[in-house]
Amino acid sequence: MNVHDSEKMAGILRLEGYEITTSHKDADVIIMNTCSVREKAEQKFFSDLGRMKNLKADNPQKKIIATGCIAQQMGKEVMKRAPHVDMVIGPSNYHELAGMLQKAEGQGATHIHGQIAVGDNPELASMELPMDRTEGHRAWISIMYGCNNFCTYCIVPYTRGRETSRPSESIVEEARGLGEQGFREVTLLGQNVNSYDGGDRDFPELLEALDAVDGIERIRFVTSHPRDLSDELISAIARLDSVCEHLHLPMQSGSSNVLKAMNRKYNYAEYKDKVDRLKTAVPGIAITSDIIAGFPRESEEDHQETLQALREIEYDGIYAFRYSERPGTKAAKMDGGLPEQVRLDRLKEILDLQEEITLKKNLSLEGELVEVMVEGENPTDSESLVGRTRTNKIVNFHASGDIKPGDIVKIVIKQAHKHSLSGELCE
Ligand code: 5AD
Ligand code: SF4
Repeated sequence: MNVHDSEKMAGILRLEGYEITTSHKDADVIIMNTCSVREKAEQKFFSDLGRMKNLKADNPQKKIIATGCIAQQMGKEVMKRAPHVDMVIGPSNYHELAGMLQKAEGQGATHIHGQIAVGDNPELASMELPMDRTEGHRAWISIMYGCNNFCTYCIVPYTRGRETSRPSESIVEEARGLGEQGFREVTLLGQNVNSYDGGDRDFPELLEALDAVDGIERIRFVTSHPRDLSDELISAIARLDSVCEHLHLPMQSGSSNVLKAMNRKYNYAEYKDKVDRLKTAVPGIAITSDIIAGFPRESEEDHQETLQALREIEYDGIYAFRYSERPGTKAAKMDGGLPEQVRLDRLKEILDLQEEITLKKNLSLEGELVEVMVEGENPTDSESLVGRTRTNKIVNFHASGDIKPGDIVKIVIKQAHKHSLSGELCE
């Protein structure tokens, strides 16, 4: 979501006459688009911010802007800790970027202290902005902003505000435009896409409308909340040709006690039941997940239940994190916090187990014929190309003929690795 928000800010700036540069030194404007979902990202931002100080000292005309969730939550503190920051803009206010910059420039060359724009709730204006998309064959589309779930560990409802869905016609319009420009894949973005409510269309109906858009061969979406995974959605994934056979369905924990403390609103049995229904309705579907290790009061038994769940479900891949306390959340006020080492040890066990499972799943694809959408040159081997299966697995293969990003090719999988597959082009 942040990468896509950055594309929007780049789009706004391009209309203002700016161009992208990779040099911090040459840049007239530096935007630091921040994440506060875990503490590590926050620390990284503050250390990067320190390095911006000299750049500003060398060229006081340079504008340094902090955006994203840290800007939203800690805007004033950011300004205090780093007076070289010119402005702070939260995720609901990106449509104000051009105006704020013009104001800063109009007021003279030097530092304009304290322009802060941090609204409480997502505004449609921040979803429908000009965009400088970084790729030509696949695109992100924002469909909803914000979250009403208040999982007890999570800062997002406090930084991104309440759920706001974009009207479905505007989404379908954007997809049509993308199809006409030659894009072939779209990924629908929102904190909780399957609670999308566009008034005239719910989420499965939106998928149905997008499936009919010319040129768009693949539709993906993130992130889905297990509680809102309805039978209608499962059947839409099964039925609609362009909806890919992959679902990211964060479980967070395999222990029903922990799930309750996290306010996830489902227990393990309910979650497992949905996964089973998905697997039955959509044969070969890839399922991926997020897991948090070491939530406050998580017992060794709870942790073992998570490991057992991973064995039972056999995800195609997971993102796992050690629990990170986020100020202002309910979990931050809970007692029974676990020592860092326990959280790290549990995280390692989770990752090690999943690595075995991922490899096993990848090995089962050896010899299979898969449909791959080409992304481009393999960054680690210029002789070969890289692409993704409909199930979102990375495939490397040797190029032949004129193949370009966005092309769909048939590949026979020859070898499975931990994080990717390699195969041969099938004429
Ligand atoms: N600590 C650790 N992981 C977290 N996530 C969200 N908040 C926290 C936190 N406080 C993880 C969840 C979520 C993913 C985007 O980040 O697993 O699904
Ligand atoms: Fe955070 Fe839970 Fe909302 Fe996801 S569903 S953004 S984890 S509060």
